Amino acid sequence: MARLVIVSNRVGLPEEGGRRAGGLVVALRDALKDRGGLWVGWSGETVEGEPGPPRSLRRGRVTYVTLDLAREAYEAYYVGFANGTLWPLFHYRLGLITFRRHDLEGYRAVNEAFARTIADLLRPDDLVWVHDYHFLALAAALRRLGVTNRLGFFLHIPFPAAEVLRALPGHDRLLREMADYDLVGLQTESDVRSFAEGLVRLAGGEPIGTDRFRCAERTVAVGAFPVGIDTEGFARLAAQSANGPEARRLAESLAGRALVLGVDRLDYSKGLPGRLQAVAELLERWPQWRRRITYLQIAPVSRGELRQYRALRSELDALAGRTNARFADVDWTPVRWVTRNVPRPVLAGYLRLARVGFVTPLRDGMNLVAKEYVAAQDPEDPGVLVLSRLAGAAEELESALLVDPLDVEGLAEALDRALAMPLDERRARWAASMEVLRANTAARWRTRFLEALEATRPAVAG
Ligand code: G6P
Repeated sequence: MARLVIVSNRVGLPEEGGRRAGGLVVALRDALKDRGGLWVGWSGETVEGEPGPPRSLRRGRVTYVTLDLAREAYEAYYVGFANGTLWPLFHYRLGLITFRRHDLEGYRAVNEAFARTIADLLRPDDLVWVHDYHFLALAAALRRLGVTNRLGFFLHIPFPAAEVLRALPGHDRLLREMADYDLVGLQTESDVRSFAEGLVRLAGGEPIGTDRFRCAERTVAVGAFPVGIDTEGFARLAAQSANGPEARRLAESLAGRALVLGVDRLDYSKGLPGRLQAVAELLERWPQWRRRITYLQIAPVSRGELRQYRALRSELDALAGRTNARFADVDWTPVRWVTRNVPRPVLAGYLRLARVGFVTPLRDGMNLVAKEYVAAQDPEDPGVLVLSRLAGAAEELESALLVDPLDVEGLAEALDRALAMPLDERRARWAASMEVLRANTAARWRTRFLEALEATRPAVAG
């Protein structure tokens, strides 16, 4: 079997096992569990001056190779172009974009630095699988260094429609660089359509058959590979952890009240203000739920260097405070607002305790918390997933209560319906979702992607 070389900005280092990670790290950790391989990425450290050589660490079947970034490189590549430009653009938030040529140049320079490190590590038949919007230009940099290995790319976030992508200066070059991958994988069919439209309309690509394109003298295959979780493993973890001390502490504190739970990085794509407003709307319109529910939102702070994230945090602090001030009693507050990181095993237990999983992003590539919520449920007495139609997961989890995340009244109605839902309906909806999650696990996702990558062309020897 060819060796697998994974590249992503964040690496799920084993020492950080308990830390709440973003969807990408969760998916890759699950996907690498049994196959193993090399995982290359940023160490999470910035340094003054030139960074030293990469560090390598072997644990079981996985070898981690991490690089530090110079402070200025990090500012331009990660804070600037990746999270100040690409993240809002790909999530359809044009009003939040900042763009500076300097950041784009820094982004390319970091892609080139990674390419040099990777080229030194590669063996001729390695399969290289690059992840997410931090590395759109990595294949092009590797090809310039003469790398002929098969290169696959998977985008964990949405791919925007061509008309939106057009707002990005230099979008045509970036698209052509993406065509240097042999396979570009996206989360959903609708992302595939957007990417294909971009290639053809904005970068001179030509379709060959249904799922391949000729662009800038290269052939790139494109497909939808919705990312999954380790469904059975997470179900077991949740069942165990629900009996652990942390989950018991939460359960006792609820004093019999129904738990509505949200778990998200504190990000403007997650629809958090709408969620808080919906809880206030629920308590206003259906006073019978007062004192009978607790909404716990766990939202670890993320990307705090960016002004947009700091502004969101202040807005949410104010909203949570207002809802509590309006409805709280001396022995009950409706909203618990937690910005601390909660370890994943503990979260699994919390998810199992929740009567409602509240997942309402304004746009999301997939949203693995939605899948984890379903997997965590007690089959005898499952809770209800309230899920945004604009999360990639909604294409698979059709039996969730699907909602429009901007419609606060609609969100409140869905909460009321979920809280009042009879057991047989909860069981039927849960069973249908669970069947989907059992069929498309993280291991299956990895296998499907790598098989498609291997099928793009024969391995190049030498
Ligand atoms: C999303 C992105 C990942 C990213 C994660 C956490 O899931 O798709 O690429 O790693 O968010 O964000 P951060 O900026 O902290 O890595």
